[in-house]
Amino acid sequence: MSDQQNGNRRIIVPGGEDKAVAELADEIVTSVDDILNDKKRCSLFLAGGSTPEKLYRLLSEEPYLSSLPWNRLDFFWGDERYVAHDHPDSNYLMAYQALLSRVPVQADQRYPVPGAGECTPAEAAESYEETLRNYFTPEDSPAEEGNYDRPDIVLLGLGEDCHTASLFPGTPPLTERSRWVFAHYIKKLGNWRITLTPVFLNEANNIFFLVTGRKKAYAVKSVLQGDSDGEKCPARLIEPANGSVTWYLDSAASSELED
Ligand code: 6PG
Repeated sequence: MSDQQNGNRRIIVPGGEDKAVAELADEIVTSVDDILNDKKRCSLFLAGGSTPEKLYRLLSEEPYLSSLPWNRLDFFWGDERYVAHDHPDSNYLMAYQALLSRVPVQADQRYPVPGAGECTPAEAAESYEETLRNYFTPEDSPAEEGNYDRPDIVLLGLGEDCHTASLFPGTPPLTERSRWVFAHYIKKLGNWRITLTPVFLNEANNIFFLVTGRKKAYAVKSVLQGDSDGEKCPARLIEPANGSVTWYLDSAASSELED
């Protein structure tokens, strides 16, 4: 599968997993540099799950450790499991161990979703929404409706059922039209999730999906070349109005795509 561009969507297939991760890391560096030419700070939303761990570890090592202006980056999460931040399932813990504890980032640059034990799932979602609205409210003019700064970089993964973040097929946040953050119980997983909604994700300037492994090949094909609606294939709802979406795939995850 060769690289493709279609409107604001790019599909990049550099080869194996390590090459996909390295090329995405390189593009994150250039994207951050471009963003910080025009802004004081750059917001990055981290994906959870296991796939991005290699990317986060790579970014914490040279040459990326010296290339990124860490003191001008602010870190958020695209979704979180409703667990304590020291729980092995925590997306915050994974990113902290793989990246944030290994680079010069202070606590006030980390904006984690409140964890279990701090508040209820609904309170965590409300609190995170307030955090985001405060952060993205322009300094020079209080936010009227729709007058918010936009997320700069959002990293996302993809599940075999075409979920992304914690936007699972047939769940309420898929049709949410105003809230940026949503808490919901995922019956098949037996746990609560807090997730950004498509309403907020589609405000992003740069969305990067990182998907690797043969297990994801059918989900990738459904999202990129299928015609399912967003209820069945939530990742198809990620269509930023004024931003770009770039899919970094390894050869295995792209193996069902037609040229
Ligand atoms: C999560 C993620 C989720 C993840 C996919 C893929 O909290 O699990 O946000 O959307 O990206 O489930 O997970 P893997 O990378 O572990 O396959």
